[in-house]
Parts: sequence; structure tokens; C-alpha cells
Amino acid sequence: MCGIVGYIGSKDCSEVLVSALRKLEYRGYDSAGIAVFEDGKISVKKAQGRLDDLEKKMEYEGRPLGHAGIGHTRWATHGVPSETNSHPHRGGEKVTLVHNGIIENYKELKEMLIESGREFVSETDTEVAAQLLDSNYDGDPVKAIAKTLSQVEGSFALGILFSDRAGEIYAVRRESPLIVGVAEGESFIASDVPAIIKYTKNYYLLEHDEIAKLTEEGVTFCDLQGNPIEKELKVADWNEDAAEKGGYDHFMIKEIHEQPTAVKTTITPRIVEGMPNLEECNITIDALKDINQIYIVACGTAMHAGMVGKYVIEKLAKVPVIVDIASEFRYREPLIHKGDLVIIISQSGETADSLAAMRLAKSMGAQTLGIVNAKGSSIAREADMLIYTHAGPEIAVASTKAYMVQIAVMYLLSFELAFAKGFITDGECCRLTDTLQGIPALIEDTIDKTNDLCHDIAEKLTEAESLLYIGRGLDYALSMEGSLKLKEISYIHSEAYAAGELKHGTISLITEGMPVIAVATQNSLYDKTVSNIKEVRARGAMVVLVCDEKAKVGADVADYIIRVPQTDEVLMPMTAAVPLQLLAYYTSVLRGNDVDKPRNLAKSVTVE
Ligand code: AGP
Repeated sequence: MCGIVGYIGSKDCSEVLVSALRKLEYRGYDSAGIAVFEDGKISVKKAQGRLDDLEKKMEYEGRPLGHAGIGHTRWATHGVPSETNSHPHRGGEKVTLVHNGIIENYKELKEMLIESGREFVSETDTEVAAQLLDSNYDGDPVKAIAKTLSQVEGSFALGILFSDRAGEIYAVRRESPLIVGVAEGESFIASDVPAIIKYTKNYYLLEHDEIAKLTEEGVTFCDLQGNPIEKELKVADWNEDAAEKGGYDHFMIKEIHEQPTAVKTTITPRIVEGMPNLEECNITIDALKDINQIYIVACGTAMHAGMVGKYVIEKLAKVPVIVDIASEFRYREPLIHKGDLVIIISQSGETADSLAAMRLAKSMGAQTLGIVNAKGSSIAREADMLIYTHAGPEIAVASTKAYMVQIAVMYLLSFELAFAKGFITDGECCRLTDTLQGIPALIEDTIDKTNDLCHDIAEKLTEAESLLYIGRGLDYALSMEGSLKLKEISYIHSEAYAAGELKHGTISLITEGMPVIAVATQNSLYDKTVSNIKEVRARGAMVVLVCDEKAKVGADVADYIIRVPQTDEVLMPMTAAVPLQLLAYYTSVLRGNDVDKPRNLAKSVTVE
């Protein structure tokens, strides 16, 4: 995710901007840049790579000397990572800006601007915003920003310099976060509090469509009509370490809260006119038509995302899918045929078993598709086709937001494949895609509604010796992930079971008070799962039921019921995953474990 900073005050602006950007490195980036007013003119310095590369470049070319400017770290979404595509972007003579978020209608706007005679140098949606603002500016920043915002669609935060206003910085946002920091004789903008905490703890939260004007004298706010706004000053009570966790106690819970943004950032660029569009990843409708067998190969959580993919692809696109654990796949002499599609899912892109499995599949003539979060990683470089998930860096060892974006991509792929194969109409495909676009809001809602209950239920789980997670169909796929999450950070044994399979042996494990987490979000399987829940409850199990908010649950079915917002049945794992993550998180916290760094585990497993 991109990071924005801005500074105006008496300090050396370049130094402040780079130091503030370093505190946003956790968001992930592939290039960086700054723009500073130097002797009344805007000087821009950009570099592909790390902030160290930008600093080296400035050592060599000279660092802009000034007291007002903006800076940016870019996590590429539109256009490859390169110096040209990195921010700040000039919109012409009048405007220079940095941007976080996505301008959804950039293609139409770009065509309009090209017709009016403007030329573009980058492939980014940001340059479109810069050129549009430049074309709207006639000396009144607020009017120009308001007009531009009436033309753009999407989620974004902007830090803006106008060439004829050397002592001013402007900022505005819609959806994407932006804060405005204030101290004696200086002010700041930033995507997140850690960027400014070294300089000030006082800040304002910029709201949707509010414009901030920063000068050395202070900050003023107005709405898009120019009416002044009074805002409440916030005081961050974090030290620098806590600030990196965004004020949360652990990275894991921070990352759970980042899921709505991560999903939005991952799916939005891949939806064009309401339909999934993976062309930028070299996946076309014609190529999808020819796929008759899919393998999904991965490890741990990523493999569980593949399990969700299997159910959805087989249900919607009727293409057979085999999900394999990478360490098994590579040694079991898989029957891969030329033209089979082998999908490798990996957050890190460096997992040794997944990488080896991909190389094996390639050597056997398969087409390989990487679904990877870490840019430039080995799997990303070697896969024939690549879909990046845009979760930003995941620091906690227990994967949460990476899983969520992996399944979001599985959905997009399934919808497009089902359409390519002729099993759903374009109308149905649009409806499913539209429902997927509504998921980030539902995830947010689920976190709000289930957080406290999950904490309370976790108190009952801390003393358990063993748990079972049960479900059917997609709920079973999700149970596997819930179970892994709990065991890896709480150190309590747990197992996921297909609910209908219990009676073939495992039910003998049930003793008085044993917790069973039952996931029952699939309407078509609900009654069947309830029968299995009754079987375990009759033998003394303490049942926690995860179901949708509208499910009619009989009084004797469960000890605790966690209700999640309802959506299309096929998409329910995206909301139901949240309470499973929260249950694992709070159980680990209450047991006093090192939540973010569980014993014996590493974030990236680069050995066999
Ligand atoms: C899950 O919480 C773990 N971090 C682990 O299972 C992980 O998903 C697995 O090691 C695969 O990692 P990758 O996605 O980086 O390939």
C-alpha cells in the first residue's frame, strides 16, 4: 500500500520527508520519491527500489533544499514499479501530487485528457489525477480540487503542491486514510500516525471530501464548497513502537483490521465495467476457455485458500480442481498434463516447497499461475502468469489478511472462468462481482459486531486441551483455516473435520465440555450440519456456532452463537473467517503467548 507524507516548517524538508517515509515502510513499496519547493520552484526526486536508493540518488544529484514538500512510497497497482511510474507526479506546469488509493475511472479520464491535447509519461492512474487537477486549476486550489473530485471515482488520498503557492500544501481524501499533524511552527500530512510521531503527537483525522491547507502558520480545513470546518485535535498516546502497530497491541489484530482495505485494493483494479478482468496478469477469457484441469498447490494457510478456491471453481465453472500440499505434490509424481493449469498460492513467494512444486509443474508442461503477495519474490518472478495480492506486508506469523486477499482472488478467477466456460451469463458474473465488491464493508461490520463476543468465548477456550472445528463444503474448507489459526498461536491442539465424517471415528474424542467450533454458513447444508452438531452436543461438547445473521437457530443447538453478516452463500467464507481469526487471536492473548511470533515458526519457510 502506498504511503504519503508532507511537511511544512523550518526543518530541512527532504530529511523530514525521508525519515517520515521510513516509518511507513511496513506498508510495503517498490519505489519512492519527494517533491520540495526549492527557491520557489518544485524539485522532484524519485527512485525505483528502497528509500536508501532514493537517498543515494540525492547524494549524487543533490538533495532539494527547502521547507515545504510532499513524499511518497509506491506499492505498484497501475503500471510496473519504475522511476517514471513512481510519485510525485506532475500534472503539467501547475500541479505536483502524491496519491494513495485507486482512481477507478482513470481510463475514461485519460482518454478525455488526451483528446484535449495532454500527453502522459507514466502508466499510472495518479498521473491522470494530477493532469486533471492541473487542467482544472486557475488560481483557486479549493475550486480546482472540488471540481476534480466531482470527476474522479474511487478511493484516494492526495497530497498536493501548486507551483504558484510555495508556502502551502493541500490534502484531500476519500476512503483512503490521511492524517494532518501539527506542532509549533510546522505541520505534516501522513497516511498513518507512525510517520509523524517523532515530531508530534497532535493530529487531525481528515474525513471524506475534506480539504486541508497547511502553511507554516498552521492548518485550516474546509469542505468542497470552501466552507471552513472546525475539527477535533487528537493526541496519540503511543510511543514509536506502538505507533508502528497503529495503536494495536499486536500486528495480528492490526492486520485483521486491515482486511477490508486489503481486499478492496486487491480486487478493484481487476474489475472493469463490472466484470472480472485479469488481462494485466496475462489471463484472458480465451485462455481460460481451454482449461480443463486445475491443480492448486500451496502450504498452510495459502493451501486453505486453495481449498476455498476448489469448492468455488468446481461449483461455478465446473472445472475439476485438485488441491495439493506443496511438500506432497513435489514427491508424489503428480499426473500433470501439458496445458493443465497449476496455481501456486503464496504470501511470501519464497516458500521452498511451493517454489519447488511450481518448478516441477513447469517442467512437466503445465501453465503456472502465481498468486503472490510479496513483490519480486521467486514465485512471482518464475510463474508464467501472476496475480499479485495487495495485502501490504504481513508481519504477524499467523496469516490473516494475506488469506483474505488470496480467497478474494480465487473468487475473481472463479467468476471469470465460469463466464469463459459459459456456465454463468455476463449478468450473473456482474452480480457476483458486485457482491464481492461489497465484501470489504461486510468484513468491517463483522469485526465490529463479533469482536467482543469472540473475546468472551476465547476466555472459555483458554483451558481446553483440544478442540474440533467442523463444517461441510465451504464451511469445512474454512474450518481448516480456523483450526490452523488457533493451534499455531494458542498452542492448543485442534483439528478440522468434515462434519459428516465425525461419526466414522473422531466422535469418540468428544468428552464433557470439549469445545467444538461449528461453521454453518451454507444454507443448503445448514440442516445437515445442525444434525452433526446435535450429535456432538449430545455427548457433552460445548458448541460455538458460526452462522449467518438470518439463520433460524433452534434453542438447543449451541452454547454460543456468532452471527456474521449475510451475503451470497458462495462468498460467506469472507465474513465467517473473521470470527475464527478473532477467536484464535484472543485465545492466544489470554494465554499470554507471543501472538505475533509463535514458538517454532517462521514467517517465511524457505527450507524444505
Ligand atoms: C499460517 O498462518 C502460516 N503463516 C503458514 O501456514 C503459511 O501460510 C505457510 O507457511 C505458507 O506461506 P506462504 O504463503 O508465504 O507460502
